[in-house]
Amino acid sequence: MKSNKFYIRTYGCQMNVADSELVAGILSDAGYQKVNTIDEADIIIFNSCTVRQHAEDRVLGRITAESKRKKQNPNMLIGLIGCVAQRKGKKLLEEIKSLDFVVGTDQYRQLPKIITSCMKRKEHLFADVQNNIENYENIYPVRNNGVNTFVTIMRGCNNFCSYCIVPYVRGRERSRNHKEILHEIENVGNEGFKDVTLLGQNVNSYNDSEYTFPELLKYASQISTIERLRFVTSHPKDISDKVIEVMAAEPKLCEHLHLPMQSGSDRILEKMNRNYTSEKYLSIIHKLQDAIPNIAITTDVMVGFPGETEEDFLQTYNLMKQIRFDYAFTFKYSHREGTAAASYAEQIPEKTRLSRLQKLIELQEQITFEKYQEQIGRTVQVYVEHTSKKSDKELSGRTRDNKIAVFPGDKKLIGTFVDIEIIDATGWTLKGKQINPT
Ligand code: 5AD
Ligand code: SF4
Repeated sequence: MKSNKFYIRTYGCQMNVADSELVAGILSDAGYQKVNTIDEADIIIFNSCTVRQHAEDRVLGRITAESKRKKQNPNMLIGLIGCVAQRKGKKLLEEIKSLDFVVGTDQYRQLPKIITSCMKRKEHLFADVQNNIENYENIYPVRNNGVNTFVTIMRGCNNFCSYCIVPYVRGRERSRNHKEILHEIENVGNEGFKDVTLLGQNVNSYNDSEYTFPELLKYASQISTIERLRFVTSHPKDISDKVIEVMAAEPKLCEHLHLPMQSGSDRILEKMNRNYTSEKYLSIIHKLQDAIPNIAITTDVMVGFPGETEEDFLQTYNLMKQIRFDYAFTFKYSHREGTAAASYAEQIPEKTRLSRLQKLIELQEQITFEKYQEQIGRTVQVYVEHTSKKSDKELSGRTRDNKIAVFPGDKKLIGTFVDIEIIDATGWTLKGKQINPT
C-alpha cells in the first residue's frame, strides 16, 4: 500500500502557519492525505523557525526524538522545511541521519516530486535554492480547522534589521497580485472564516505595481463575505497616515495593531538599522490612539542587543511604561550567524540579558493585568472560536481588539458573533456574560 499520509508540525511565526497550510495544499493536490496526529502519519514534516537559536534547537531536538518511529514504520519519511531548512540546507542531511528531505522556503512546489523520489529510491534529497520570486500563486492552501485564518499578501523582507536572519532565509520582498488576494479573502469568507488576517513580514511595503498597502487594505475590508480584517506585521518606518486613515474609516478593520518597537534607545535603534527614533515611534502611537479610540497596541521588544548599556535598557523600560502596550512579546537578543550584528563588538553576557528580560516581563505583566482590569464593565463583541479549554459549557471568543474572552454559552454559537459584558479578568483572559442570550 502506498504510504501517503502526511502530518506537518509547525514552529515559529504566523508565516510558517500559513506556509504549512500552503504545503498541505500542494501535497493534497498531488494525492497525499493530511492527517491531524503524528501517530497516523507515514510522512512527518517539520516546518522550522530559525529566528532565535532556541527555536532552531527545539525543532532539531524534536526530529531526533521522533526518529525512533522509523523503527516501527520502515517506510516512514521525515522531512524538514521552513527557515532552518533554508539556512542550513544540505548540511542537515549529514548532521541528522534520520532526515530524508530538506526543502527551503521557495521550493515547496517540489515537495511531491521529492517525496516520491525519497520513497522509491530511498534517496536523501534537498532543495534549498532561494529564487526570490516564488509567490505560490495558484495554490490554494488547505486551512486548519477554525473560524479565523490568514491570507498571505507578500513574502520576504528587504529591511535587514541588523539582528535578523529573516531576510537571508526568506529572501527579497515580493507581493502577490491583489486580484488573487481579494479573491482568496472572498473565498475564505464563504468557507466560514469571518476573521481574516493579512500576512507578510512587512505588510506596509506591499506593492503589486497596481495597489499599495492602504489600497489593498481598503478593498479587502469591503469584501462582504468577511466580518473582520487584521494585518501583521507592520514596520514603524513604513506605516503611513493613509493606513491609519483606512483603519479608522473601515468598520471591518479591527482596533488592534501589532507594531514592533524593539528598543526605546535611539542609539540602539540605529545600530539595529530600524530607521526610526523613539520619538517617531511614539508619534505613531499617538496618531493611532487619536484616530482609533480604544485601539489595542501590541509589540515586540528585544533586550541585550550588542552594546546595550544599562541606560539604553532603561530607555526601553521607560518607553514601555509610558506607552502601556496591551501585550508585548519580549525577547533576549540571540546571536544569528551571518547577520550584521553577529560581528558587532560588546556582545552582552547571558546573565545580563536574562535579568533585563525578566524586568521587562514583570513590567509588562503588570501593565497587561491593569489593561485587562480596565475592560471590566465594557460591552464587547466576540467572535466565538471554540469551547473553552476548561469546560465545554463555556465558550472562548476573540474581541475585535484581539483579546480572548470566555463566557457561558452553547456550542452552537461557535462561528457566530456575540455581544458580552466583561465581568472579570484573570491574567490574559477576559470573563464575560452574554447580553440578550437567544
Ligand atoms: N534575537 C532575538 N529576537 C529576535 N527577533 C528577531 N531576530 C531576533 C534575534 N536575533 C525578534 C524581533 C522580531 C520578532 C519576530 O523576533 O523582536 O520582531
Ligand atoms: Fe526581520 Fe526587520 Fe524584516 Fe522584521 S522587518 S523580518 S525584524 S529584518
